[in-house]
Amino acid sequence: MSPEALPGTLDVIGPDTFAQHGYPHAAWKRLRQEAPIHWFDLPGGVGFWAVTKRADIVWVSKQPQRFLNGPRLAIFEEGAPVEGERRLARHLLNMDPPEHGTFRRVASGWFTPRAIRRRQEEVTRITRELLAEMAGDGEERTGDFVADFTAPLTLSVLADMLGVPREDWRLMFRWTNQIAGAADEEYQVGDDPIDGVESARSGLFEYFAKLAEKRRKAPRDDMVSVLANADLAGEPMPIFELLSYFLLLVVAGNETTRNAASGGLLALIENPDQMRTLQADPGLVDSAVEEIVRWTAPVIQFCRTPVEDVEIRGQQIRKGDSLCLLYPSANRDEEVFDAPDVFRVDRSPNPHLGFGIGEHFCLGANLARLELRVIFRELAARLDSVELAGPVERMRSSFLGGVKRMPIRYRLRPA
Ligand code: HEM
Repeated sequence: MSPEALPGTLDVIGPDTFAQHGYPHAAWKRLRQEAPIHWFDLPGGVGFWAVTKRADIVWVSKQPQRFLNGPRLAIFEEGAPVEGERRLARHLLNMDPPEHGTFRRVASGWFTPRAIRRRQEEVTRITRELLAEMAGDGEERTGDFVADFTAPLTLSVLADMLGVPREDWRLMFRWTNQIAGAADEEYQVGDDPIDGVESARSGLFEYFAKLAEKRRKAPRDDMVSVLANADLAGEPMPIFELLSYFLLLVVAGNETTRNAASGGLLALIENPDQMRTLQADPGLVDSAVEEIVRWTAPVIQFCRTPVEDVEIRGQQIRKGDSLCLLYPSANRDEEVFDAPDVFRVDRSPNPHLGFGIGEHFCLGANLARLELRVIFRELAARLDSVELAGPVERMRSSFLGGVKRMPIRYRLRPA
């Protein structure tokens, strides 16, 4: 079939599809094979080019001055509140060089492999505490893996790093759900999806403005202190950008690792031979984590906007058009991955783009990897049995592959 014959309405970004069926891998595969750079209209909004092959996503992402993040963060069903996105928050993901690098360097010291290694003990402690509660006396139990484990785990690791007191962690959970789940009825507060985002954002901004003020007066060894006392060429970080930084860290740190961990266990439940392989050889945990990130790819897409006309694979892209980089599609690119639709904990090499690539490569990748390593090492060692005890409920979003609830029946050996 020629690319022209591909229907422009092929559902590649629809939040209902994601919520009801998970990722539309068949549609993405068709695009990779027939129209790897393909235009989609967005009824009532501004259309976009779907970029589905790994090589093209890499090529675009590695030219941050030619393909900007600023103008349009991602494709949302409602079209593009282009102005709105920037009005709501200004952070690394909608900044461009050279400003982006200046802001990124303020926090990057906290995410180096060395800095993250120091958190291993704490992450292990939190993981074991939660697993102890789940395990009981080792009898068969049922529970919601998200509410009982992945949500509190990722939330506490991040809150602890930021320096948010324990009694306030619940607040962060509500805000991050409202922001990431703007298109999902469960998290909406008004008629307009943007109302939930607005109200969560103002709650979060107000909260962190107060905390930043406290840490300016009395700095501690936490990230709020680092950001609140940042020195940008002799000036403090402007307040809007400072508060947006917190918003980014809270959302990016919670909504991603949580879903990778939930989706990772789901993949192991659906592929019991892979669970057995991992249990038989715990040394595979590093490659299992990479495979989980490739497979779950919790971030669906980000946009780039070219500053000049450009041709990609014969398609004429105009200056100002939106290129939608579909990471989960890149992760199944048959030109790169052997048997891409097979989940293998020993996959190697595994050059997935779950964390993106280039200028905006995930700042939290080392932290996410550490968390996932600890989680799956502990689970593999202690799970005697596990199966789904009900349907997996997914978030309605065109941006994040969220698992809202995942009921499981399991037997977990007490430590
Ligand atoms: C499995 C978990 C995670 C996944 C799959 C993930 C994925 C991503 C992706 C795809 C990007 C954009 C990359 C690009 O445009 O090239 C990104 C950026 C980012 N992530 Fe993550 N992330 C995860 C965990 C985290 C965590 C735990 C944190 C922080 C605590 C974090 C903080 C960030 C930040 C701050 C950025 C923006 C970087 C920039 O624009 O320079 N992420 N992440």
